[in-house]
Amino acid sequence: MSHADDHAGNRRDFLYYATAGAGVVATGAAVWPLINQMNPSADTRALASIMVDVSGVEVGTQLTVKWRGKPVFIRRRAPNEIEAGRAVKLDELVDPKSENENKPGTNADDQNRTLDEAGEWLVMMGVCTHLGCVPLGNAGDFGGWFCPCHGSHYDTAGRIRKGPAPRNLPVPVATFENETTIKLG
Ligand code: FES
Repeated sequence: MSHADDHAGNRRDFLYYATAGAGVVATGAAVWPLINQMNPSADTRALASIMVDVSGVEVGTQLTVKWRGKPVFIRRRAPNEIEAGRAVKLDELVDPKSENENKPGTNADDQNRTLDEAGEWLVMMGVCTHLGCVPLGNAGDFGGWFCPCHGSHYDTAGRIRKGPAPRNLPVPVATFENETTIKLG
């Protein structure tokens, strides 16, 4: 074997080991979330309720919190957002259900989507009902949320109006614990 061949052989060995090493790392990374999910304390944490201080949320802005591993949008709607949401007729909606765990069986009227009577507070899972991307706020053709993954437009009440998503953004169990605290779950 010439010196050059010898060198090439070493190089192949090196590449082989490097590739094998990378394979082990990738397997480790794929297995970790499964092990993590089987951890009972993670399960318990996932079911817990949380308290969210909303005292700092200005009118026309949104707070995003992580709950049960997912983003939750807490929006304090401005009067024009409430007006726009309430002006929509049921037959204009793709999904006529409120998708509100606090008001099961109700229709998707704006009043059935919000936490308070005045319609200022809207609490929703921040997960697109198409394939699960996180929609962007203050965006889209209806002044609500827009999911850039495949172009779903939600209105100011988080109802799907255009694009491939089939359902309104779901409203989770939520209540006002006191004037400035919302309890999720
Ligand atoms: S995941 Fe939102 S449009 Fe596809």
